[in-house]
Amino acid sequence: MELKFSKRSQKIKPSATLAVAALARDLKASGRPVLSFSAGEPDFPSPKPALDAAREAMDRSETHYTANSGIPELKRAVAGYYKKRFGLEYSPREIIISGGAKQILYEALQTLADPADEVLLPAPGWVSYIEQVQMAEGGVSLIETSDTGFAPVRDRVESALSDKTAGMIINTPNNPTGAVYGEDTLKMLADVAREHDLWIIFDEIYERLVYGNAAHKNILQIAPDIRDRVLTVNGVSKAYSMTGWRIGYALGPKEIISKMDDIQSHLTSNPSSISQWASVGAIEQAESDIELHRTEFERRRDILCGSLSGVGGIRLTRPDGAFYLFFDVRGSKIPDDMEFCRRILEEKYVALVPGTSFMAPGFIRMSYACSERELLEGASRIKEFMQSI
Ligand SMILES: Cc1ncc(COP(=O)(O)O)c(C=O)c1O
Repeated sequence: MELKFSKRSQKIKPSATLAVAALARDLKASGRPVLSFSAGEPDFPSPKPALDAAREAMDRSETHYTANSGIPELKRAVAGYYKKRFGLEYSPREIIISGGAKQILYEALQTLADPADEVLLPAPGWVSYIEQVQMAEGGVSLIETSDTGFAPVRDRVESALSDKTAGMIINTPNNPTGAVYGEDTLKMLADVAREHDLWIIFDEIYERLVYGNAAHKNILQIAPDIRDRVLTVNGVSKAYSMTGWRIGYALGPKEIISKMDDIQSHLTSNPSSISQWASVGAIEQAESDIELHRTEFERRRDILCGSLSGVGGIRLTRPDGAFYLFFDVRGSKIPDDMEFCRRILEEKYVALVPGTSFMAPGFIRMSYACSERELLEGASRIKEFMQSI
């Protein structure tokens, strides 16, 4: 039988980040000394309070279905965290817990975007947004930021608007650029959303990983009056180093949350009961772990930027947040980022992710979620590579 695949499934492209990781794994398996900088996850163990809370939950037999949109204890922990950290108040009906921020984003786009709607997205940007907008049969309109310090500016945002624009996806601190949007940028985006009647999906999953003088703000701290059009997305994956537990959450108007709840009820039902309890432990008791992770990432960022600064052919922008360095190779002898990544992997066994997978050809993403030894060795191989081409 010849299987016929849906048009929808044929449009989905596999994740390029995972493709690089797979090639790197193959080379490693054949004995090559591969260093991989493609990871999108922290390399620390999950915090002890999370592990303890998970064990205790298992011992109490908290191993059955929970409320579809999450246990009240975790919603309370999330609400308490948002009140304390951002001064924002949300009731349990305005919060949903899912199997990772990715699932939250999927449900949000299925709720908010109609076929043919357009969604604004700053580029460079995380590739799953585009695929997920496509799964909702909408289209993406990119806002170019490569030459504006990786932050959107008003005239670019306005020229990306059309009469089909329904909303925007904002991600700060940003994957892949590490940009942290300042208050002026957030105010401008809020103004555009208000003036053009747009919703905002505000993905702040890297909000705790901010360095130096940079400060992260939730857009509602700057523009509280647009509360009814903002869905904030966050989770435990990045700040607490809990990627494998798969817990993400959203806070927003109860009408949006309730629709997402309906979708989730037919998709996965509740996320893992044990992971939800682990997340209560993390959010309520692992503040000190976050600060340890943050300071260690800041140290690694400084080591990496120091080692690569001044290397010919590479133009660095020091990232203020997340754990990625996003550098420009358009001025090098290999301006094509796909070719650059292929050659450096084959010749120096260094795995990097091409900017094309973030809508930014000519750029390279290097994760610094790895040891200092690996960073120094990686930087030295990159230098050798740049001299050899
Ligand atoms: C910008 C951004 N949002 C959301 C996610 C999804 O996080 P998770 O599904 O692990 O909660 C990621 C993960 O790479 C990300 O980079």
